[in-house]
Amino acid sequence: MYDLVVIGSGPGGYIAAIRAAQLGMKVACVERYATYGGTCLNVGCIPSKAMLESSERYHEVKHSYDDHGIEVSAVSLNLAKMLDRKNGVVEASTNGINYLFNKNGIDGLRGHGSFVDKNTIKITKDDGTSETIQAKRTIIATGSKPVSLPSITIDKDRIIDSTGALELTEVPEHLIVIGAGVIGLELGSVWARLGAKVTVLEYMPKILAGADDEVSKLAKRVFSKQGIDFVLEAKVTGAEAGADSVTVTYEDKKGETQSISGDRLLVSIGRRAYTDKLGLEAIGLETDKRGRVEVDHDFQTGVEGVYAIGDVIAGAMLAHKAEEEGVVCVEKMHGIGAHINYDAIPDVVYTEPEVASVGKTEQQLKAEGIPFKKGKFPFSANGRARALNATDGFVKILAHAETDRILGAHIIGIRAGDMIAELAVAMEFGASSEDIARSSHAHPTLAEIVKEAALGVEGRSLNI
Ligand code: FAD
Ligand code: NAI
Repeated sequence: MYDLVVIGSGPGGYIAAIRAAQLGMKVACVERYATYGGTCLNVGCIPSKAMLESSERYHEVKHSYDDHGIEVSAVSLNLAKMLDRKNGVVEASTNGINYLFNKNGIDGLRGHGSFVDKNTIKITKDDGTSETIQAKRTIIATGSKPVSLPSITIDKDRIIDSTGALELTEVPEHLIVIGAGVIGLELGSVWARLGAKVTVLEYMPKILAGADDEVSKLAKRVFSKQGIDFVLEAKVTGAEAGADSVTVTYEDKKGETQSISGDRLLVSIGRRAYTDKLGLEAIGLETDKRGRVEVDHDFQTGVEGVYAIGDVIAGAMLAHKAEEEGVVCVEKMHGIGAHINYDAIPDVVYTEPEVASVGKTEQQLKAEGIPFKKGKFPFSANGRARALNATDGFVKILAHAETDRILGAHIIGIRAGDMIAELAVAMEFGASSEDIARSSHAHPTLAEIVKEAALGVEGRSLNI
């Protein structure tokens, strides 16, 4: 009998398993795929960042080295090698989980897990054989899968999802993307940098719908300059794949039907919680209409001893959110007081420039009637950004008008994803903008932009 069985080995599941083992529990982690690590390590965060890195370097050598006085005569793309490197990065990362399971004495069990009853999990292997294991407690960490429109079938050739967009063996001539969300922009950037014409069709009137308006506006301007075309307020209604092309139909903002053709179509309109064939009916658990499992503050479902974390429950679909939930879920079942401040979970889009945020946007604060002050500082006024030749962007800090407590921070600019960490920690500590403004930041660093934005909250930025 295991103290804990975790179903799913993504960042939520494998981290929960490790924390439970650290606390002395006898733990098993069940995974239906051949490698551990879930969406994130196999087909998500890690391979996408590997391709973003490689494509950015290629693009830089071709287009920006000249600015630095570096003359490169012949630059060519070896896409097969680039994909191999990406696969190597994935392999090293997934192997790392085998190592961590061994180190922590966790039984990694391969096969599809499903509930027989709340303490019995059946594991069905690829060859059809099965075994059952007993668990005092179970965590459902089965993650999510991409969704498509009812009228569009992902044929994995002309019409692909994010997994397909990480495996294309030829650069498309014209990649059409549905959805100007995170995947559309990250993977659209990859192929645009490698030479594809990229057109993004987006239903909303802005790109990165959840982002602060000022950030979204600048992002659109910069990505457009990079050659990505956006058609906003375009509601895609269908797509037809031919032998070597694909035609997408959409309603434009006037309600008129339009069509556009390319050679590949990436559908990136969101993801759905994944609980297929999990046997939830055997334990009397239902999902909501988005497939999600409902949990309480301890991450316990309606069934005692059955918990759920990560993409399969409500909230942002982010690897680090899943990890935090895994840790807190296990610590709480062990009697340790723990909690997650969802307002201090950062969000990063790994385009160039990166887009990073934590806490509330200006629009949310206005809608909630919370009085705030704002400090904003541009990358163009920072020496290090100029040395990097990366002056697009700004840091914006929103602090409560009376208490000065930081309520939100939004960055667009090179390495924004690393810079946001300071602001997430500040928010976790309940810091004021003055706390940041009075802290020393090394010169010359991009972090000084954060300090200057914090000074800006009181109208006293120095270098502008
Ligand atoms: P998952 O990682 O989806 O893992 C669930 C696991 O459960 C899978 O391995 C699945 O095979 C397994 N499973 C499912 N059902 C069963 C079953 N019945 N039995 C056994 N095993 C089962 N997030 C970020 O924070 N940063 C990023 O940069 C980022 N980039 C991304 C890029 C892409 C292209 C995509 C698609 C996603 C990205 N994400 C990113 C989101 C991130 O991958 C997810 O939020 C994260 O993986 C969720 O973790 P999870 O543990 O809940 O689920
Ligand atoms: P998303 O929710 O970020 O964006 C989907 C976009 O598609 C939205 O802007 C929506 O308005 C648009 N859309 C929906 N239906 C449409 C239609 N019929 N016509 C035109 N546009 C339409 O979803 P995405 O990009 O698929 O990503 C899924 C999730 O994966 C993200 O929410 C995120 O949580 C996670 N992810 C995180 C990353 C990161 O943290 N860097 C990277 C990649 C994914």
